[in-house]
Amino acid sequence: MPRMLLACTINGEPTELLVQPYHTLLEAVRDVAGLTGTKEGCSTGDCGACTVHLDGKPVASCLVLAMQARGREVRTVEGLAEHGELHPVQRAFVAHGVPQCGYCIPGVLMSASALLAENSSPTEAEIRLGIAGNLCRCTGYTKMVAAISDAAGVLNK
Ligand code: FES
Ligand code: FES
Repeated sequence: MPRMLLACTINGEPTELLVQPYHTLLEAVRDVAGLTGTKEGCSTGDCGACTVHLDGKPVASCLVLAMQARGREVRTVEGLAEHGELHPVQRAFVAHGVPQCGYCIPGVLMSASALLAENSSPTEAEIRLGIAGNLCRCTGYTKMVAAISDAAGVLNK
């Protein structure tokens, strides 16, 4: 099948990728662009491991066709740090020792950073709702929620 040209912005860089019409955004990001920070879990929209930002909103990239990103802004976990500085939620995850196996963490970071961009003072319930689409089999979520709350505090300073 002839490939299609996907022109979009990935992590702030104008990018052109040759993708198959049936490629998902997850496949475009990982397999074509080589940005393997975004993880594949279920491929059915249930686990959140593949979460990226599309025009600033968190999406399950396994459920989005690559060509749906045409002309839009994609951000992956590789683009969360800016000017060499980790995002506050990344720093808080390190400080709290959140990651265990780590597989869910890129997706959780993308959901949490999108939440904080929209609501810099979330309640615990809002944080839990913000990451409700991200399954973690290891952490029990307690440290994760505390870290996101701390990151909100940093953003509000
Ligand atoms: S791999 Fe996309 S939601 Fe699980
Ligand atoms: S740290 Fe292992 S799945 Fe979340």
